[in-house]
Amino acid sequence: MTVSDWLESAAAKIPRPEARQILESVLGFSREDLVSTGRRDLSNDDVGKADAGLARRIQGEPLAYVVGNKEFYGRDFFVTNAVLIPRPETELLTEAVLPIAQPGWTCVDVGTGSGCIAVTLALENDVRCLATDTSSAALEVAVTNADKLNASVRFLQSDILRAFQKNAVNLVVSNLPYIADGDPRVETSVKDWEPPSSLYAGATGLEAISELIEQAAHVLKPNGWLALEFGIGQADAVRRLLENWNVEMRRDLAGIERFVLAQATS
Ligand SMILES: C[S@@+](CC[C@H](N)C(=O)[O-])C[C@H]1O[C@@H](n2cnc3c(N)ncnc32)[C@H](O)[C@@H]1O
Repeated sequence: MTVSDWLESAAAKIPRPEARQILESVLGFSREDLVSTGRRDLSNDDVGKADAGLARRIQGEPLAYVVGNKEFYGRDFFVTNAVLIPRPETELLTEAVLPIAQPGWTCVDVGTGSGCIAVTLALENDVRCLATDTSSAALEVAVTNADKLNASVRFLQSDILRAFQKNAVNLVVSNLPYIADGDPRVETSVKDWEPPSSLYAGATGLEAISELIEQAAHVLKPNGWLALEFGIGQADAVRRLLENWNVEMRRDLAGIERFVLAQATS
């Protein structure tokens, strides 16, 4: 079976660009390589691996997990089902903190998952970047990404910011879980495949964010910054939790308030 034969047959079952990405990941090819090798015969081993990827996708597993990759802020991040697949909203959060983070600052990404925020921050700005997560499996993925992308980030297994001392940090950035347990609006592809520990926060969905705000008030230096993402419809509740902070709400591309930049009042 040639590359083209496999693509034709797979494209009858899933969108052609997805079939192409599955084959690229199996063969370790770039898109250009794949286009120029349409007549190449695939080994039985490669066909077996590509078919296995196709079967996973047909069963509904997100493409990023099947191919082990998701682009974030222009870079390829390795992902497994131990981490949330990085989202475009989180690129907006990251982009918003880049002008704030000054060279020499100590910045902490809380709930780092794939490491996408911390790695991007470390590569884009000359800051001292640390990142925490409670999940050791997620931290392994994050370390792989930092190594692969040559980013200097220190990873710690910690509950939120418990590993940090008072007045030690200039900027905390975070996308912690913010979905209420049992929320029926969660899409099947998310609910069935992404790690529950990266999605659900408790009965209201605000439990992790509320704890983060409390801990950040302790570890941030005077006038330090907290930037965090939250869910649709949570803006007013987050404003209330931040009533003693200077707060600037930001919107996503759909115009919905989805993250906040807050400065600790000294
Ligand atoms: C929504 S995911 C975000 C991952 C990544 N930062 C991103 O934006 O793609 C939340 C992450 O927070 C971690 N997490 C959940 N509770 C935590 C806690 N109490 N302390 C630290 N990390 C936590 C989860 O393991 C998960 O990796």
